[in-house]
Amino acid sequence: MPAPEPRLWVVDTPNTSYVVALDADDRLHGLHWGPKLTYEQASELELPRTQRHGIFDAQGFPLDLNPASAIRYGQTGLQVRFGDGTRELELRFTAASESDRALELVFVDSHYPLEVRVRYRSLDDGDVIERSTALRNTGDEPIEIVRADSATWVLPRLEDYRLSQLHGEWGSEFQLTRGAIPHGETLIGSRRGFTGHHSNPWLAIDDGTATETLGAVWSTNLAWSGSWRTTVERYPNDRVTVSAGFGHDPVTFDLGAGETLETPVATGVYTEGGFSASANAWHDYALGHVLPHPEEDRPVLYNSWEATTFDIDLHSQIALAEKAADMGCELFVMDDAWFGARTSDRAGLGDWWPNPDRFPDGLGPLIGRVRELGMRFGIWVEPEMVNPDSELYRKHPDWVYHRPHRRRTEMRNQLVLNLAREDVREWMEDWLDRLLTENDIDFVKWDMNRPFTEAGWPDEDDADRLWIDHTRNLYRVIDAIRAKHPRVRIESCASGGGRVDLGILRRTDQVWTSDNTDGIDRIEIQEGLAQAYPARVMGAWVTDSPNPFTRREVPLDFRFHVAMAGVLAVGGDLHEWSGDELARGKELVDAYKEVRPTIQHGRRHPLRAGGIGGVQYVRGEETVVLAWRKARRFGNPDAPVKLHGLDADAKYRDEATGRVHHGAVLMAHGLDLGLDPGDYASGMVRLTRLS
Ligand code: DGJ
Repeated sequence: MPAPEPRLWVVDTPNTSYVVALDADDRLHGLHWGPKLTYEQASELELPRTQRHGIFDAQGFPLDLNPASAIRYGQTGLQVRFGDGTRELELRFTAASESDRALELVFVDSHYPLEVRVRYRSLDDGDVIERSTALRNTGDEPIEIVRADSATWVLPRLEDYRLSQLHGEWGSEFQLTRGAIPHGETLIGSRRGFTGHHSNPWLAIDDGTATETLGAVWSTNLAWSGSWRTTVERYPNDRVTVSAGFGHDPVTFDLGAGETLETPVATGVYTEGGFSASANAWHDYALGHVLPHPEEDRPVLYNSWEATTFDIDLHSQIALAEKAADMGCELFVMDDAWFGARTSDRAGLGDWWPNPDRFPDGLGPLIGRVRELGMRFGIWVEPEMVNPDSELYRKHPDWVYHRPHRRRTEMRNQLVLNLAREDVREWMEDWLDRLLTENDIDFVKWDMNRPFTEAGWPDEDDADRLWIDHTRNLYRVIDAIRAKHPRVRIESCASGGGRVDLGILRRTDQVWTSDNTDGIDRIEIQEGLAQAYPARVMGAWVTDSPNPFTRREVPLDFRFHVAMAGVLAVGGDLHEWSGDELARGKELVDAYKEVRPTIQHGRRHPLRAGGIGGVQYVRGEETVVLAWRKARRFGNPDAPVKLHGLDADAKYRDEATGRVHHGAVLMAHGLDLGLDPGDYASGMVRLTRLS
């Protein structure tokens, strides 16, 4: 039966197009990802011709739907194994359905009972394209799924290719690096069961010439919080694809008869205007289509962790809450060690009731006092984990991931609960619901402090599905809790920034960026995170000096100004702060509250001028500049900092000095920030556009 027409589709966004087309063999090619093309213009694009070199048939062309099949030797985004061992797919196109902003292409295997649906969705207010794939087993026998990427993005032919990625580790997440893409396969991902500190699923590709403000950038991300893999492949003929999906080698799982596997959403965006335009496109997407309550301003929170670690009780928490309230904090978050026998990291995880020695009358007295002080109340939990020394583990030793003949490897003295199990999911939903019903809680810091090991599930035939079902059930629990307690807001934390991705951000309100709160190290960490995610989610505490992790001494203003570039919070031991420091802290918290809507919802522009770095946020009439300089070399006076995104014809008033500047001058020549000449100088400038 002839395949239906048409065989070419244009996925349009407001400013861009992504074009796919089928060849005579029903292979789906990505013909264009870039500036907008009409259907007629796109129809002129030619399908690539296979290059043949003697008996060595070069793979030659990148595919948008890239199944393991004959003459495909590189990375393939769709790999299965049928019951008889066959791995090659021969997909036939059967149908397309197109609606306003969605396209679905349906393929079936020519012999085996597998249906593949490839989906594209665009938005009317931004250039991000959302893609996913669905695999359905239409037969009676299970099919082994080896790889099911959400999408393979085909980049246009460029003169050269440069990859920007975010790598890191605990305490130094989101380190931005840019480098040439080598030929072959570059693989980034996580095999740890969660997004991970070591790589983030965001990446960007340009031809090597883009700057912060100029040039075309192709960028992708994946909305998934479990293990994941993105393969950037540079073909021998210099074409590049990016294939992204959940799961990792060598995990496979069975797709049962009649079952459908839905992949997570993969996202991609093409922008012009340099890395800054790309980052802002992601911010707009998160604020417009991902976060549950993007319109809200995040409050200034106080978190007690660095002040007290495991040594807490009702009175010490109240004493901190009083200081935090005086400083203007709006939300008091009690961190670890309020429950069970959790007086150190060796015991108690899993026993989610208030420690009777520390909180003899439950949480009520603390919450009551926090409310009297005019703050909201938040609490720390780590629901996916258990200490072997806990009542939960003694009762349910089979509830953790484990293998019958292997040790149960502990990290931070804890094991990972098998959240893929329905009984574990129900237990988790129940106690969280009870905690939030019985206590007047506004905010939950949801932590996750170790990766999976010995990820087995002895009673389950297809145990590897835990790698997917853990994350799906995590989402289910959070979704259920949010539905039952709509006023509760959630912070995603995994030993700092280990679980920051578009999947978790669909159901949380902010993230804990890093356990490293050193004001200097934070500059790079925040710059990296901001490539993909908006300031509105980036939790940033001001803590003590010297910093407990790095022992670096950094002045209070500097620490504040860096933290004010995100969701400002305070996390120091306020009993150790001098009266002057507490008073200055309050001034800076008050100043932040005034500019918070601009920082949390505005357009972000990184700033650089000699040794000065910083960030500028623009929203409506208001512009906020936060800038810092670590050290100045003698004889090198500070250069004015050139601003961005202003109206050249407008005038802007500096709210502190009353001076009026021309937008054209601020952008072409810059603003003299008048920073202190000494080390660790910093400042904030607030400009208002005059009509
Ligand atoms: C790791 C988090 O990143 C910290 O902020 C703190 O909550 C600790 N866990 C508590 O154990």
